[in-house]
Amino acid sequence: MANTLKMFNSMEIREQVLSNAHSFSDQVSGNQYTLLPNLIGEGGEAQLYEATEILTGRKCVAKIDVSGILGDLTRRKHWEGIVSVLRAHQNYHEHHLLPLLAAGALKAQWSDAFLGERAVEIYPFASSGNFADVKLPYAVLRDDVVPALATAIDTLHGSGFLHRDIKPENLLRFDSCFVLSDFSTAVPIGQENRDVFITATVRRTVGYSAPEVNFQYASRACDYFSLGLTLASLYYGGHPLKEAFKCGGDIAFYRITDSAGFDGLGLTFKADEIPLAWLIEALTRYQAKDRCDVEGVQLWLRNPQTFYVKYILANQH
Ligand SMILES: Nc1ncnc2c1ncn2[C@@H]1O[C@H](COP(=O)(O)OP(=O)(O)OP(=O)(O)O)[C@@H](O)[C@H]1O
Ligand SMILES: [Mg+2]
Repeated sequence: MANTLKMFNSMEIREQVLSNAHSFSDQVSGNQYTLLPNLIGEGGEAQLYEATEILTGRKCVAKIDVSGILGDLTRRKHWEGIVSVLRAHQNYHEHHLLPLLAAGALKAQWSDAFLGERAVEIYPFASSGNFADVKLPYAVLRDDVVPALATAIDTLHGSGFLHRDIKPENLLRFDSCFVLSDFSTAVPIGQENRDVFITATVRRTVGYSAPEVNFQYASRACDYFSLGLTLASLYYGGHPLKEAFKCGGDIAFYRITDSAGFDGLGLTFKADEIPLAWLIEALTRYQAKDRCDVEGVQLWLRNPQTFYVKYILANQH
């Protein structure tokens, strides 16, 4: 359906980047970048090109949104919102968000200047790519990844946004720090600041999205559910139920998110690594209200035994 249109648009954009040595200036700092015709990655929503910061020669990536235009005012508002959150949280040692270097619009030549504007974000190049199907040692998960992702999620939530696509593919290592990336699916929590709200679009990554996402619900708890599956995936070196993905989207989605919950994942842990099982179980509860959030994660980091009493034992009664 929309595929043809998307393909067409993506190719137009690629042609644009390939045929013009695009220089791009940040709207706020005025820093200049050159977009190079070297495609680093392409997902459903975006194309990523190599870019160079002109002043320093630093290698960067330019992420161009190919799924929509900034002429769509709701889209523009969401995008400007997340851009300002990222600009305010560039200290990746503290916030563990991939630092945004520049943002603005790429003006297409083929159509009306405003309607044809595409969101462009420039980030520093992270040489170790992403963590899809990567197995990390327990100590690295406990000491680095859990604190980094919990901090990143909590920072976004505290700034009024949900991420909605926490998964190993969106975890990067940059300058010896684990950072969360890919803010394409971020959505404002809304002025009412309610716990749960309805979104216009179902955004889900099979294997990582919470059960309620399928019914258009979005909440902070959805990001914590995805954190649980992300940790399971990083512990195993791949999603524990990836065989189910082969059955196709919906079947796999329900298999992973049915009420069997944590038990349905069939995870096994080494004896001295059991605390990770407790954390994953508390994060991936079927009911959003039963899941642990940043407070729970912090307790787990400080004192896993107390976490066990509060989040596992107490839940069994
Ligand atoms: N700063 C970076 N440095 C190196 N590689 C990157 C960087 N940012 C992204 N990548 C690589 O490109 C891939 C896609 O990037 P990203 O997740 O931002 O977009 P996407 O998944 O295509 O977007 P969407 O979810 O919007 O479709 C990442 O999984 C990662 O491998
Ligand atoms: Mg991604």
